[in-house]
Amino acid sequence: MILNKDDLHASLSDPVLDSMNFLNEITCRYPDAVSFAPGRPHEGYLGVDDIFGFLQGYLAHLARGGIPPEQVLSAVYQYGPTAGRIRELIADWLRKDEGIQVAAEAIVVTVGCQEAMLLALRALFTGPDDVLVVPAPCYVGITGAARLLDIPTVAVPEREDGIRAADVAVAVTAERARGKRPKAIYLMPDHANPSGATMSPQARTDMINMAESLDVLLLEDSPYRLVSGGLRLPALKSADHDCRVVYLGSFAKTAFPGARVGFAVADQQVRDACGRVGLLADELSKVKSMVTVNTPSLSQAAIAGLLIAADGRLSEFNTRTARHYEAALRTTLEQLEKHFPPEGGAHVRWNRPSGGFFITISLPFKADNAALTRSAECGVIWTPMSYFYPQGGGENMIRLSFSYLKLNEIAEGIGRLARFVELETLGPQGEQPGWHA
Ligand SMILES: Cc1ncc(COP(=O)(O)O)c(C=O)c1O
Repeated sequence: MILNKDDLHASLSDPVLDSMNFLNEITCRYPDAVSFAPGRPHEGYLGVDDIFGFLQGYLAHLARGGIPPEQVLSAVYQYGPTAGRIRELIADWLRKDEGIQVAAEAIVVTVGCQEAMLLALRALFTGPDDVLVVPAPCYVGITGAARLLDIPTVAVPEREDGIRAADVAVAVTAERARGKRPKAIYLMPDHANPSGATMSPQARTDMINMAESLDVLLLEDSPYRLVSGGLRLPALKSADHDCRVVYLGSFAKTAFPGARVGFAVADQQVRDACGRVGLLADELSKVKSMVTVNTPSLSQAAIAGLLIAADGRLSEFNTRTARHYEAALRTTLEQLEKHFPPEGGAHVRWNRPSGGFFITISLPFKADNAALTRSAECGVIWTPMSYFYPQGGGENMIRLSFSYLKLNEIAEGIGRLARFVELETLGPQGEQPGWHA
């Protein structure tokens, strides 16, 4: 049987999915290129044997808590509760590291933050008039999940300090005026992916106030905050007295992505037709029971062991890793300054994020897939920023991810980027400026 692509869900024809395939394919085709494309965490500080230590640490923790041996066995070998086995440990960590006070019952452990996004969107969005407000540019995980669920998104352009409440308020009001229901705003307050932008303290307060006054929910996603050095601003969820924030958590950067463990904090109350009140987390669990049943017990055990080893302080556990990211960010900026001096006339501009994994660069020519292929031939790979603007934008911009590269690889990669930019702007014979413009 031959299936017609047009008969499959429309999201499968979304250019973003093709773009991601293209990026993977380019990376495989040019294995010697320095790749600034993947947002992978640095692996330098964990050893293969550590995983056994984490598992044993969790099992010992259960035994110390008086759990009978057969239940300890089940904790790794069996199906588990849909909402997760390690909610207490996550609640303890959130309290110690983030000042977020939530009951374990308000947490659902998920298969990565990605599943938390999917569950939240499925539960909150009910029909074609419900819209999700997202920043532009935006992390493709959320826009892609919305696309899978046929949830329309409305893009609000980010400023230098991230998405602003006043801009969101304008978008929400405009959507309501045309009969739509903006249900939630997705935001990445710290070192956003892809822009690197961080919201100021005032912008955070304004956002919470705006959510209360316009009666919308905020979906807060901040995987980079605990692995970044410098001043750490409070999570929106830590000041969320009216339960406006659904917190979408990830252990991919603070622990390791191989576990695929994330979580949602959903402490909002939900009242049913009979007046019974439960938590949004209970509803997310129901969705989860039909998506992944439960997050693998083995993965939860590994993350739990790490949380126990760190005594619930992942920020301290990540001190060395955060220092590596700081050095990688600094090196990338220094190399950009070296290779693109202001007097060089290359018209290359970049931002200076205070942390995270990403820098964005604007180039004096179109940074599309064709340019990426030519760049890979020069030995350097990056992500076109246009991938992060579902409604258009970022055509001359690229994202560099420096997180998993060694400092010498960064230096080599930026040198190659400079050669690529030179070739693009001078033309093949060095006589036609802007030949790909
Ligand atoms: C903004 C954002 N959210 C979430 C994640 C991680 O999601 P997961 O826990 O599913 O790996 C990433 C990682 O790339 C990200 O950049």
